[in-house]
Amino acid sequence: MATPNPYPLLVEVDQYIERLFVSHDMVLEQALNDATEAGLPEIHVSPNEGKLLYLLAKLAGAKRVLEIGLLGGYSTIWLARAIAPKGKLVTLELDENYIRVAGNNLERAGLQSLVDIRQGAAAGTLEKMVKAGEEPFDLVFIDADKNNYPVYLDYAVQLTHTGSLILADNVIRDGKVARDGQTDPLVLGIQEFNRKLAANPKLEAILITVMREALDGLAIARVKD
Ligand code: SAH
Ligand code: DHB
Ligand code: MG
Repeated sequence: MATPNPYPLLVEVDQYIERLFVSHDMVLEQALNDATEAGLPEIHVSPNEGKLLYLLAKLAGAKRVLEIGLLGGYSTIWLARAIAPKGKLVTLELDENYIRVAGNNLERAGLQSLVDIRQGAAAGTLEKMVKAGEEPFDLVFIDADKNNYPVYLDYAVQLTHTGSLILADNVIRDGKVARDGQTDPLVLGIQEFNRKLAANPKLEAILITVMREALDGLAIARVKD
């Protein structure tokens, strides 16, 4: 049996916001259905967080987006829609099966021509991108393996410019990040990421909480002038 949610009021408010501000969308709903049917884990961003990513990309006037962690392409569709029709989104993913599912979802969304999927461990791909002098990105969304978040932050700073946004999912982890004595390497990775984000003199940043099955969060940083 599923554990009862410890935050019923937050869930109620999250559902209220979704009902009002996130319209039903067959493309997004089908993307989630197909991902679940193909056996992908249900760890995509929530509809409300997807809408937030979309709005942040629009507010930043982003044209070039880098995503680290594609899964079935749910967050990718939100971000690609924000930069359509002329933008470019590069997304990094380890798993070939996930890439196949995401490719179909992006095709159905009519976004395939905007999205460049690069297969492999993200740290290696990012290293290659820096060495190749990849054109800088206006927005980076970090959402892959949590223990590597500190590494991804270093690359994100190298691959952006003044005014770029650096976003990262899962930075609250049910509030565990706020407590000392953690042993889970994933939580430790996020704690180190949050400390590095706060201390980086090139960035101005904040964390906001977002609701999922449990309480989680989104990091929002801007590369300083
Ligand atoms: N952004 C997606 C969810 C991503 S889940 C969404 O919200 O819809 C995290 C993804 O990171 C998974 O698909 C996982 O396969 C991928 N991943 C994990 N470790 C990775 C690594 N070292 N390099 C690249 N991708 C990785
Ligand atoms: C996990 C990864 C995510 O990106 C997420 O949003 C939730 C959970 C995970 O690996 O468990
Ligand atoms: Mg996530």
